[in-house]
Parts: sequence; C-alpha cells; structure tokens
Amino acid sequence: MEITLTGITTTGTPHLGNYVGAILPAIEASRRKDVQSFYFLADYHALVKCQDPALVHRSRLEVAATWLALGLDVENVIFYAQTDIPEILELTWIITCVTAKGLMNRAHAYKAAVAENMADPDKDPDKGVTMGLFCYPILMAADILMFKASKVPVGKDQTQHLEMARDIAARFNHLYGEHFVLPEAVVDERASVLVGLDGRKMSKSYGNTIPLFEPEKALRKLVMRIKTNSLPPEAPKDPGTCTLFQIYQAFATVAETAALRERYAQGIAWGEMKQMLFEYLNGRLSEPRQRYQELMQAPDHIEQILKRGAVRAREYSMPFLEELRRAVGIQPLGHG
Ligand code: TRP
Repeated sequence: MEITLTGITTTGTPHLGNYVGAILPAIEASRRKDVQSFYFLADYHALVKCQDPALVHRSRLEVAATWLALGLDVENVIFYAQTDIPEILELTWIITCVTAKGLMNRAHAYKAAVAENMADPDKDPDKGVTMGLFCYPILMAADILMFKASKVPVGKDQTQHLEMARDIAARFNHLYGEHFVLPEAVVDERASVLVGLDGRKMSKSYGNTIPLFEPEKALRKLVMRIKTNSLPPEAPKDPGTCTLFQIYQAFATVAETAALRERYAQGIAWGEMKQMLFEYLNGRLSEPRQRYQELMQAPDHIEQILKRGAVRAREYSMPFLEELRRAVGIQPLGHG
C-alpha cells in the first residue's frame, strides 16, 4: 500500500493559515482507505527553533488537540510524536554518516541565516547557527525514510528538504543496497494562499496570524483588526486585493464566494463585511473549538492516543532499523 507521511513542527499555536493550507487537506486525506498515512508531531524539530521548554510543551499539546478536535481519524492513520520513536534518532545518525556536508551547505534555512550574518562585517558567518539547524534536513529525512513514505504533503518551503531526503536515500541505497524508498513532495497550492491581518502571507514569523481556536470575543477582535483600504461603503471594491475576501474564500463554497463577489461589485461597508466574516468563521469553528477546549483539559487522554500511535509506528520502525543496522554491519557478533 502507498505510504504518505507528514510532520507538524510543534512551535506556536495553529492558526487559520495552517488550517487552510495543511490541516484541512490532511484531515480529508486521513479518511482515505487506499493509503497508509502517518501524521506526527515533529517535536524534535521544535527544539531547533525554540528553546523555551514551557512553549515547546504547550505547543505539543495544542497541536495534538487541534488535530484531534478537527476530526483526525486516528484509527485509520498512525498519529504519534516523533520523540516517542527512538529509532528515528538512531536512523538520523546512520544517514548523517552518508550525507555530504556540501549538501547541507545548500539548505535554504541555513544559507539564509549565514547571509544575514554576512550583512554585518563584524559578525561571524555562523553566529547563532546550531548543528541542529544545520542538520535539520537529515532529521527530516530520517522521519520520512523510516516509514518508507513515497508521498509527503508539505508546504512549498519544504520541497528542498524532500530533494535532500531523496539524495540521502539514493546515496545509502548505492552504498548498502536498496533499502529506502525515494520520497516525493506533494505540494498543496492552497498552502500559500491565506493572507494575514496585515495583508502579507499569514505566518507566525510575521506575527499576523489568527489563531484557529481563539475564543469568540478574541476572534471577533482580530477580524476587526484586519487591514482594509479607506474606500467609502458605497464604492465598488476589488475582491482580488482584499484580505477579508481572501480569508472568506478559503473557507466558503464556490457559490458563496460568487455571491460575495457580487456584493463587492455593488459596494459593501468594511464594518459590515468584517462582522459577516467573523460570524462565518465563528460558525465554522465553534464546534471544533468546543472539542478543542475539552481536549486541552484532558492531556492524559491525548498522551494515550499518541502512545498508541507510537506502538503502531514502531511495528514498522523497529524491524526496519534492525535491517538497516545489519546493512551497515552492526549485528550480533558471532551470528554471521
Ligand atoms: N520541517 C517540516 C516543517 O517545518 C516539518 C517536518 C518535520 C516534516 N519532519 C517532517 C514534514 C517529515 C514532512 C515530513 O513544516
């Protein structure tokens, strides 16, 4: 059976952009019976970006609760925390030893950090660059190769990491025989569409997000803060450049979107539009928000679900790691 796998880095609180771009398509895909899907919390990846233990802890809980509240089918998919699968770290070292340093030198995230340092002649080019950041793509390759995933749904910014995982897998296979499946990125175009409060892409790094399960009052406040132009109520408005419209469109049906486009042509007051968007989002989110709040009060229950997922995942990872150890020459002495 085809295997798909995707990880969610547990830094920060899931927002509407994550929901539209990654979570919603993944939840839909989680009901497919013709593939085996693995979904996991990339909590070792979180340590690369975040060294605040309270935040890491909270985000693991929030991300897991979000997926469950939105109806991830945990019977059908295997849902676990990366940190519950020790084989992943062992594999990380094994493949680190076949990964060219030059390959990692080309990683966008690392290069961007170095370029920023180079802008200042007094700075060491590697200032603030940890080995975690530098080797991040190898850990990600281990996540994927461990479970022989052939399809990996990711955002556009991650496609280079998939190329690297393929390179690493091919190198290992060349040295030790055909053990790894070469994975492919599946990029969902909707991922880059959602805009944030200020009109730029919604992203936690811009601080312009709308958290998915913000309580009703706070959600309303955030929607009211979305940037618009200063056209008077009666003026016809351009939906193409309007953040409110784009957020609505990401949630609404084609017919609902067409109806709103008509209202824009006739002229709609921003205040009215904001209230409408708030009510629409709130209608869509209030039920899962209720479940989310309940789940946040039941962390033991979530932990149990993750642990069960880890048991299922390790049915794959333990025997495969054993095979890989033997492939590289690590096996019990005396048992040729
Ligand atoms: N690096 C990914 C991100 O930031 C998260 C991730 C970690 C991942 N391991 C993965 C995604 C394996 C897909 C497959 O979005």
